[in-house]
Amino acid sequence: MPTLALLTSGGDAPGMNTAVAAATKVAVGQGAEVLGVMDGYEGLMAGRMEALDARRVDGIWHRGGTVLGSARSERFRTPEGRSEAARQLAARGVDALVVIGGNGSLTGGRLLAAEHGVPVIGIPASIDHDLACTSHALGVDTALNTIIDACDRISDTARSHHRCFVVEVMGRQCGYLAMAAAIGAQADAVLFREQGKDEETLAAELSRLMVEAVRDRGKKRLLIIKAEGVEVPTERIVARLEQASAEHGLGMGVRTTVLGHVVRGGSPTFRDRLVAGRLAHGAVWAALAAPDEVRAAAAREGLMVGWEPREPGGTATPDRSVRLFSLDRVLEQTDALLSGAHPTTRSRVRLLGAVQGVLAL
Ligand code: F6P
Repeated sequence: MPTLALLTSGGDAPGMNTAVAAATKVAVGQGAEVLGVMDGYEGLMAGRMEALDARRVDGIWHRGGTVLGSARSERFRTPEGRSEAARQLAARGVDALVVIGGNGSLTGGRLLAAEHGVPVIGIPASIDHDLACTSHALGVDTALNTIIDACDRISDTARSHHRCFVVEVMGRQCGYLAMAAAIGAQADAVLFREQGKDEETLAAELSRLMVEAVRDRGKKRLLIIKAEGVEVPTERIVARLEQASAEHGLGMGVRTTVLGHVVRGGSPTFRDRLVAGRLAHGAVWAALAAPDEVRAAAAREGLMVGWEPREPGGTATPDRSVRLFSLDRVLEQTDALLSGAHPTTRSRVRLLGAVQGVLAL
């Protein structure tokens, strides 16, 4: 009987539990034994694994967070840590490891495969949407729904008090949440790291936006969504906006709200559940039922299941929306996504540049 281990790692994301439940049910249905690794790579190195079955995962499908626990492990970044993890997996007779997480977690998974020949299949899960070779990472849709709900509420207050709000959202390296939320919440402006604008440019643009919106168009609410990764601190942006309001006699108060971890929790949306279930199905297929060459690739460099990826290539799975990519390729493309060299980032920046003018009207 093959043994499959499941692990969640990095920042928790809504949909992780759905993926754990789905992978367990599919694997058990295929006659496999399933182990849940507790607390990510930290728990793996300590050998903390629990048997999972349909009964154990009952009732977690719709819950936020991860019942397996998660961690950001410094020790797993060392070769000794990864050797210990491989030893623990071998001791429990694990045939393949499914890693549910984001960029850092899958980097760890790739090293485990490359250094120790452990077959690793990644499932992209990160509210930041900071992975290439997938057009959906688990948690992004739920996070966006939470953000736009918060922005709608903040807008009520902003309109009532003629205020400008700067709302900061998570996204250390990738500004996708800010970009997408700006459209969903009909913000007046969006600031994200990939724009590469310095403080003076941002201040001049925001000041002009405020004057035109308030003085020329009589707007009562200004909503500016800022990604966490923008180097200029939020307080400085607020100070520059207050200065603009005072200099031009606009009488508009400026407030800030940092949504932070509020956005990471909560029950996954339908879309996050659907994609989690289907990616988990693809991951179990890759681990247990795929042709030999696919499983060999998982042991050589690790693989990731991608949802309707924009990148060409990859390996087909029984689900038309799910394709498999080597972790080498995923991580190389991810670097390009984060540095701005990837066509997806370039098109996001271009599109948002065009949309900003419309949003501000
Ligand atoms: O990786 C997801 C993320 O939510 C980032 O957007 C954020 O910068 C980071 O996690 C926060 O991490 P922690 O919960 O460890 O403070």
